[in-house]
Amino acid sequence: MITVCLLGAGNVATHLFKAFNNAEHVSVLQWFNRDLKKLSTYKNDVLITNNIDTLKHADVYVLAVSDDAIADFSSQLPFENRFVVHTSGSVNVYDMDKKNRRGVFYPLQTFSKDIPVTFKEVPICIEALDKSDLNILKHLAENLGCSWYKINTEQRQTLHLSAVFVNNFTNQLYRIAHEISDAKSINFDILKPLILETARKVQETSPYMAQTGPAKRNDKKTIKRHLKLLENEQHKAIYELLTQSIKNTHGR
Ligand SMILES: NC(=O)c1ccc[n+]([C@@H]2O[C@H](COP(=O)([O-])OP(=O)(O)OC[C@H]3O[C@@H](n4cnc5c(N)ncnc54)[C@H](OP(=O)(O)O)[C@@H]3O)[C@@H](O)[C@H]2O)c1
Repeated sequence: MITVCLLGAGNVATHLFKAFNNAEHVSVLQWFNRDLKKLSTYKNDVLITNNIDTLKHADVYVLAVSDDAIADFSSQLPFENRFVVHTSGSVNVYDMDKKNRRGVFYPLQTFSKDIPVTFKEVPICIEALDKSDLNILKHLAENLGCSWYKINTEQRQTLHLSAVFVNNFTNQLYRIAHEISDAKSINFDILKPLILETARKVQETSPYMAQTGPAKRNDKKTIKRHLKLLENEQHKAIYELLTQSIKNTHGR
């Protein structure tokens, strides 16, 4: 049995709690958040606290708190030489206080508190400064049914950067498309099969091979027409930048 204390009550902590709770060989001893109200829904499922001094002895302490809070919060922990991990894609493992054994348990997925996620499909990037601690993280990931990858801080930060492109930037492009179609009273639902197919296609072929469209074909008249249709200067700049990027990639 792997015992866990979970710290934080946001998007990631909420999904982690459910996944840990469903795992046969993982026991969440305690769930901490500075604002106890956010844990009240779970008070019958787990011991909740907002008092850091009452934290129980666990095999691993999972700090699922904001990136900027990780370093300070790790130094506030009232114990030493225990195993503490954060869940961030971008924070260095060495940023945590060295009074404890340090590691990272980074679930590479986008999590919103109330949107269900099939947790066993989430790849977990693990890092630990001590070899035996790495085994704890492997077992933890395996108990959740997840694939795990031993990834160092530099690789994780690069993965996180790539994740910003495939998730945050892509989503912002959806947002722009939504605005543009809404402005002409066009139902965004018409574009949804295309969104799904775009994501599905790169499961089978490379992003390079999957590319189509006017920039790749260098259809100058269509590009000009699109730029004329765009009213927002920022949308125009994004269109031009991405069009140029596609042209560069495909040798146009
Ligand atoms: N969301 C994602 O898609 C995602 C995916 C992978 C990894 N991550 C990583 O997971 C971590 C948590 O992200 P999240 O999306 O779950 O964040 P979130 O929903 O914004 O929740 C942040 C949590 O951090 C706590 N917190 C903030 N400042 C604190 C401080 N100074 N001391 C103690 N607790 C503090 C908040 O406590 P209060 O409730 O009291 O404000 C809250 O429980 C981050 O490192 C993030 O990079 C996020």
